[in-house]
Amino acid sequence: MIKLVNVSKTFNPGTITEKRAVKRTNLELREGDFVTVIGGNGAGKSTLLNLIAGVYEADTGSIILDGLDVTRKKEHERAAFLGRVFQDPMMGTAASMEIEENLALAFRRGKKRGLRWGVTRQEREMYVKRLATLDLGLETRLHSKTGLLSGGQRQALTLLMATLQKPRLLLLDEHTAALDPKTAAKVLDLTESLIGGEGLTAFMVTHNMRHAIRYGNRLIMMTDGRIIYDVCGEEKRSLEVNDLLKKFEQAGGGASDRMILSGAG
Ligand SMILES: Nc1ncnc2c1ncn2[C@@H]1O[C@H](COP(=O)(O)OP(=O)(O)O)[C@@H](O)[C@H]1O
Ligand SMILES: [Mg+2]
Repeated sequence: MIKLVNVSKTFNPGTITEKRAVKRTNLELREGDFVTVIGGNGAGKSTLLNLIAGVYEADTGSIILDGLDVTRKKEHERAAFLGRVFQDPMMGTAASMEIEENLALAFRRGKKRGLRWGVTRQEREMYVKRLATLDLGLETRLHSKTGLLSGGQRQALTLLMATLQKPRLLLLDEHTAALDPKTAAKVLDLTESLIGGEGLTAFMVTHNMRHAIRYGNRLIMMTDGRIIYDVCGEEKRSLEVNDLLKKFEQAGGGASDRMILSGAG
C-alpha cells in the first residue's frame, strides 16, 4: 500500500554540516502492517517518517501510496491520509481547548470548511463512546480543557484524534518516550488495540527494544540512514533483545545507544 523507492534525504548538502540522514532506502508496506522501527540516536528514523509525511521532500526516489505517486505532494496534502503522533504530549492537542473541541477539530480534518461548528448530539455520543474505550474516565470530562490532563491522558487523546478519521497510515514517533513506564505501557496497549481494531497500517518508532519486539507484526532496524534489518511473522515473534543487540553491534552501533536500546538507559 505504501512503497518507498530509492528514497534519500541529505541535510545541508555541500556544507561542513552535511548529513545524509536517509540513504537510498527501499521499503514496501502491506495493508495492515504494524511496523516497529528501532535504531540509535540520529539513525534517521524521524527523517524517514518526515519524508513519508512530506515535512521534507525526498532528494531522490519516490514515495507511492495506493499506487499514487505522492513524492511531490506537500505536507498538508498528505495530511488527509495520515495520522501522526509525536513524542511531546503537548504537541498533539490544543491545551486551551476542551476535549470535545479537540475531538471536533480532528473529526473535521480534511472535510470542507463551512460546516457548522456546533457539535451534534450524534457526534457527541460518538466521542463519548470512543473516549470510554480509553478507560481513563475522559468520557465524563468532555468540557475539560486539555491542558488539565496528564501527559499520558493527552497522548491517549492524541491517538484517538489521529485515528478518528481512519488514516491510510499512522505514524508514531516515540510517542510514549516522554511518559513514565506504567503510563507508557498503557498507551502502548491502547495503540495496539486501536491499530488492531481499525485494521490500520502503522509505523511506530521506539528506542525500546522490548517494545519493538512485543508490538507489531514487523520490525525494522535503522543505523546511519539505512534499514539494516527487516523481519516479520514468526521470525519477529521469536526475537529476543539479545538478537537485536547483536544485529545492532554488527552494524557498528555505539555503547551508549546499546544502553538506551536495551531499555537500560
Ligand atoms: N532539520 C534537520 N536539519 C539538519 N540535520 C537534521 C535535521 N533533522 C535531522 N537531522 C540530522 O539527521 C540525522 C538523522 O536524524 P533523525 O532522523 O532525527 O534521527 P532519529 O530519529 O533516528 O534519532 C541526525 O544526524 C540529525 O542530526
Ligand atoms: Mg527521532
